Amino acid sequence: MVKTEKFIAEAIRRIQAESGDEKVVIALSGGVDSSVCAELASRAIGDRLIPIYVDTGLMRKGETARISEIFGHLGLKVVHAADEFLDALEGEEDPEKKRKIVGERFIRVFEREAKATGAKYLLQGTIYPDCIESEGGIKSHHNVGGLPLSMEFQKVIEPLRELYKDEVREVAEALDLPKEIAHRMPFPGPGLSVRVVGKVTRESIEVVREANAIIEDVLVEKYRPWQCLGALVGRGTGVKGDNRLFGWIVSVRAVNSRDGMTADPIEIAFADLQEIESRITSTIPSVARVVYDITPKPPATIEYE
Ligand code: XMP
Repeated sequence: MVKTEKFIAEAIRRIQAESGDEKVVIALSGGVDSSVCAELASRAIGDRLIPIYVDTGLMRKGETARISEIFGHLGLKVVHAADEFLDALEGEEDPEKKRKIVGERFIRVFEREAKATGAKYLLQGTIYPDCIESEGGIKSHHNVGGLPLSMEFQKVIEPLRELYKDEVREVAEALDLPKEIAHRMPFPGPGLSVRVVGKVTRESIEVVREANAIIEDVLVEKYRPWQCLGALVGRGTGVKGDNRLFGWIVSVRAVNSRDGMTADPIEIAFADLQEIESRITSTIPSVARVVYDITPKPPATIEYE
């Protein structure tokens, strides 16, 4: 606890020192990392902080409404940019390119907002594992390796760069953030685009959004997983009614982990897996199959791309 209090005091001092008298834009996604950053920065620089949430069209179901409600008191600005992101990603199948496209779009949106408000700096919730995995060439997490080289911001401030996820959660609790935020499952910056293996289209994003909502609904309360998700991993043959269907295969993943660097699959009761299957295949017409992924990390990563 002493360590956490010391971190908070130091982070506030660092944000004050690094930002000087400038206005700072923060990319608030509603995840624990950016929420902790926003709270620290709000304590450090008050209304020189400009919190922005971007609706990329790649978020979980109902997310934009939920985040607007929770962070309304910070003066959160919601930027509706779904068309911009989905147009840029349309047909893209390379995972690294998806990350770069999303990273670049984010920066462009923030630059526009910064120009409109006179902010020169950007604050980001990058944490330690994002940095190591990007530097190690495993994946370029959108907020690290995905950054375009030419950024109009004069400085990027990253107060959580040295922390692991569980340490960020401790800081969230010490800052009295709502439990819902402190214990939130991680969600990748490139959002649902990396939960469609292969081509991103508006249709595939809608399908994977619905599937993720059902999976979370069945698993989160009961199993309290570190993370659970669904991904479209290809197509397979099925029959629905009297028709043959070459439909989506949804892979369900639920893992426990300390920091996301390694992870173990959770033993889910067969009845719960059957509930997920029947809800997904009955409510999403284009899904033909549902499977459960039992691979730990390593060798698999948590996300599919
Ligand atoms: P992986 O898939 O690398 O994921 O085992 C480890 C944790 O990081 C999240 N993740 C990301 N987060 N940008 C992010 O902000 C990304 O590009 C990204 N890729 C994966 C993933 O959801 C998991 O919690």
